[in-house]
Amino acid sequence: MSDPAKLCVSNQKGGVGKTTVAINVAGALNHRGHDVLFVDLDPQGNATENLGLMEAYEDEPPTLFDCLTNPEQREVINDIIREHPEMDVIPSNIDMTAAEPELTLSRRSGEQLDLLLKTVEKDYDYIIVDCPPNLGNLMDNALYATQNVLIPALAESTSKRAFELLFDHVEALELDYEIDIKERGVIINRIDVRKNQANEMVEWINAAFPDIPVYEIRERADVQKALEAGVSLLEYNPESDMFDAFLAVAEGLDAEFGFAEVNA
Ligand SMILES: Nc1ncnc2c1ncn2[C@@H]1O[C@H](COP(=O)(O)OP(=O)(O)O)[C@@H](O)[C@H]1O
Ligand SMILES: [Mg+2]
Repeated sequence: MSDPAKLCVSNQKGGVGKTTVAINVAGALNHRGHDVLFVDLDPQGNATENLGLMEAYEDEPPTLFDCLTNPEQREVINDIIREHPEMDVIPSNIDMTAAEPELTLSRRSGEQLDLLLKTVEKDYDYIIVDCPPNLGNLMDNALYATQNVLIPALAESTSKRAFELLFDHVEALELDYEIDIKERGVIINRIDVRKNQANEMVEWINAAFPDIPVYEIRERADVQKALEAGVSLLEYNPESDMFDAFLAVAEGLDAEFGFAEVNA
């Protein structure tokens, strides 16, 4: 099997929907018949909790922290991967709160996740990495390992500055590591079409990023309820109008990465 497509879901702003988008895009890719590995790189572990794996977040070592920061423990990752009905998961852990400073000490500080994923990636079509809400070592590891980024953003004017900071950071990393990071999509999240500001921002984003696919996700109670139930919206409510919206992202990614639908 060829290498998997790898993507990180990034925006240094908190609460914009990184975790929500990561879980639902992973669910949509699974729905299209792909084998998906989900990596929760956020020390807060929201995705781990929202995938029903809270007990893994509180596990004793070795955890993702050890696999990421100690090359001798890299192989242990195989014992850490958990099964979810829609995907395999590398859960975050309470110990990950110490990862930022610890990674600074390693010689190849931005390359540790890449080296770690190389030990498991052959089993998957897609690897989706959920990022923490800051431009630190963990985010750099996610960007370096995947070299593809999905950017969720709220339909608010504050998103303009968030885009600027993120794109500047990506550019600096590309120069530092001599890599090419591709923006695979902007996902405008929590759109409330009754608000003028939201509609204006949807227009602004579409005009600002003519070369990047732009997707739209509405504000929906079921999106939140699915997370509370530990599954994606695709599993939770196939009747939801956002079911097709998340599937559209998966279809777009399949087209970008040259995948055919496996068995929907
Ligand atoms: N489309 C949506 N409709 C309703 N609630 C949403 C939607 N997207 C995100 N949320 C809620 O917003 C909150 C923040 O989303 P989250 O994905 O955790 O953001 P981030 O990972 O960027 O911090 C969560 O409580 C989530 O359930
Ligand atoms: Mg999150």
